Amino acid sequence: MYTNFIPILKEADNLNYTVGAFNTHGLEMLPDIIMATYEEGMPIIIQTSVDTAKYIGYKNLVAICSNMADEYMVDVTLHLDHARNFDDIKDAIDAGYSSVMFDGSNLSFKENIMKTKRVVEYAHKRGVSVEGELGTIGGTEEGICVKEDEKIYTNPEDVKIFVELTGVDALAVGIGTNHGQFKSKTKINFELLKEIHDKVDIPLVIHGGTGVNEDDIPKLIKYGIRKFNVGTELLVAWTKEAISNFENTKLNKSLRYNIIPCNKSVKDVVKNKIKVFRDSK
Ligand code: 13P
Repeated sequence: MYTNFIPILKEADNLNYTVGAFNTHGLEMLPDIIMATYEEGMPIIIQTSVDTAKYIGYKNLVAICSNMADEYMVDVTLHLDHARNFDDIKDAIDAGYSSVMFDGSNLSFKENIMKTKRVVEYAHKRGVSVEGELGTIGGTEEGICVKEDEKIYTNPEDVKIFVELTGVDALAVGIGTNHGQFKSKTKINFELLKEIHDKVDIPLVIHGGTGVNEDDIPKLIKYGIRKFNVGTELLVAWTKEAISNFENTKLNKSLRYNIIPCNKSVKDVVKNKIKVFRDSK
């Protein structure tokens, strides 16, 4: 079923696992990401940045995700990741995205609440789920860079007020992770995550999943992480395969001979991740 993430994350909470939220960077890899979840019998959240959504087309993404959800009877959410502009969010929702994130992490606490609440009001009227963010994620994503010394950890005192006043359905937390970290692993602040989890009964979201050590996943699940974002790992797998395939290709060879192995390498990454998300207890 094509759905928002509310029932998907609720079920994950009941059954004690976390749901993979995978960033697609192009149309080519998308069907294989969804097929990976079909083969593992799990739900999935597909996410795109605003720039990727504009590049592929909001409605094209909705069409593929909802068609595949129907055809394969898998639960699929299509989520707009890290949107900072209300008009982009409106475009996604109006085109049929089932979920959005408003990233107000660069704003004051008060402004973050005000702007997130506006998004929640627009989204909930249309059956769309909303993720908010408190604190920041390090690293670079789509040109926005948060340096290590500028990283802000979520203030646990803010969490309850933010969730109550905005009405968000899930909360992204700053607990030490970084976007785009594929050469090393993150040191997660578990004490902080536990403190946040003790304060609010809401699905928590981890960003920068590529840099997270798989051994840390059971503890993240224990402390309420129900949406687990992974992007760079897929991109790196696809690009590595593309470099080796395209390097020696005949110029008139059908594209699919070079691209199918790239998609397959993404599918393998997604399948492995999903197994860890499902089976880590
Ligand atoms: P990575 O690209 O580091 O896996 O992070 C993905 C993410 O958090 C998207 O918001």
